[in-house]
Amino acid sequence: MNLVQRSIDIIKAGQSPSGGYVASPNFGEYAYSWLRDGSFIAYSMLVKGETDSVAAFLTWTAKAVQSQQKKIEALKEAAAAGPLQEIAPEFQLPTRFSLEGEEVKDDWPNFQIDGYGAWLWLLAEWDSRGFAVQDLWRESAALTTDYLAICWPHSCYDCWEEGGDSVHLSTLACVAGGLKAIASIAAVPEGLLETIEARIREGVVDGGYFAKSFGRNDVDSALLWLSVPFGVIPPQDAAMEATAEKIRQELLEEGGVKRYLADTYYGGGLWVLLTGYLAWFEMARGNREEALRLKQWMAEQATVDGSLPEQVTRHVNDATYVEEWIERWGPIATPLLWSHALYLVVDELVH
Ligand code: BGC
Repeated sequence: MNLVQRSIDIIKAGQSPSGGYVASPNFGEYAYSWLRDGSFIAYSMLVKGETDSVAAFLTWTAKAVQSQQKKIEALKEAAAAGPLQEIAPEFQLPTRFSLEGEEVKDDWPNFQIDGYGAWLWLLAEWDSRGFAVQDLWRESAALTTDYLAICWPHSCYDCWEEGGDSVHLSTLACVAGGLKAIASIAAVPEGLLETIEARIREGVVDGGYFAKSFGRNDVDSALLWLSVPFGVIPPQDAAMEATAEKIRQELLEEGGVKRYLADTYYGGGLWVLLTGYLAWFEMARGNREEALRLKQWMAEQATVDGSLPEQVTRHVNDATYVEEWIERWGPIATPLLWSHALYLVVDELVH
């Protein structure tokens, strides 16, 4: 089985005619398109030369953002009137949309701003390869930039859709990374990036590593985003090295990584996509051998039909939660398009 071709096929099959990528085709709760998953999925299609797929996603997202324009304009007005204590629900944008790009009215923990940062980064990656940027995308990038410039210091749910009452370093990585990358396409307020970067530095705790969120001391594998892909903190930075070392020591088992130690979602197992970011990080520090080992582990998690799951339940943090989640939401999402995306990205990097 050629897992690269299979991954491209799975991603293509999971893209709706309007451009949204389903998070997983066989998992009811994931029958939507997330900005976070989608931006990384589109990036994997970009590095593999599947530009039509990327352009369709950029249009899908740009339209989804435009559908939120009123909220963003109202937020800007509120922020202009005086400092905001919090981002009120009426100003919060969704983290996921239907495959047709419509807002889904349900009680999902929607206020997650990381995906909007990741989307800006994706658009900048497209632009930096010399492809044309459509006016609609540019307008949506400007709206997104305005939104993030106001929301970034406030509490929101993280990339795992948890912890809505704090500020998360992986979220700030996406926001800073997106704003840094988009500067040639949209106007980013002067000094904003430096302010966010200084705030990120305050996330270093005793022990010299970046913690998952302000007010906590544990690490999360998504902290790797500070370096890859977002380039906010160099991989050789002492705090970043300490963070990666702690991730390896506490979260790496048999070649795959967990999200964080207290994770109990499906028991809290080993995530294929996060193992991809660790491989990416290793490549960024010149450790190709380790990246290849991690890639091999990712490939080994494929089912016989070449589908990569979200996670595998070996070495789980708490086995009692495996069955509980299976009863609640069914078997682990397989294939997960984001897992396939990271496999493609790593494949391209180690070539
Ligand atoms: C993960 C999110 C992801 C979503 C869809 C959730 O379980 O925590 O990061 O966006 O699934 O894949």
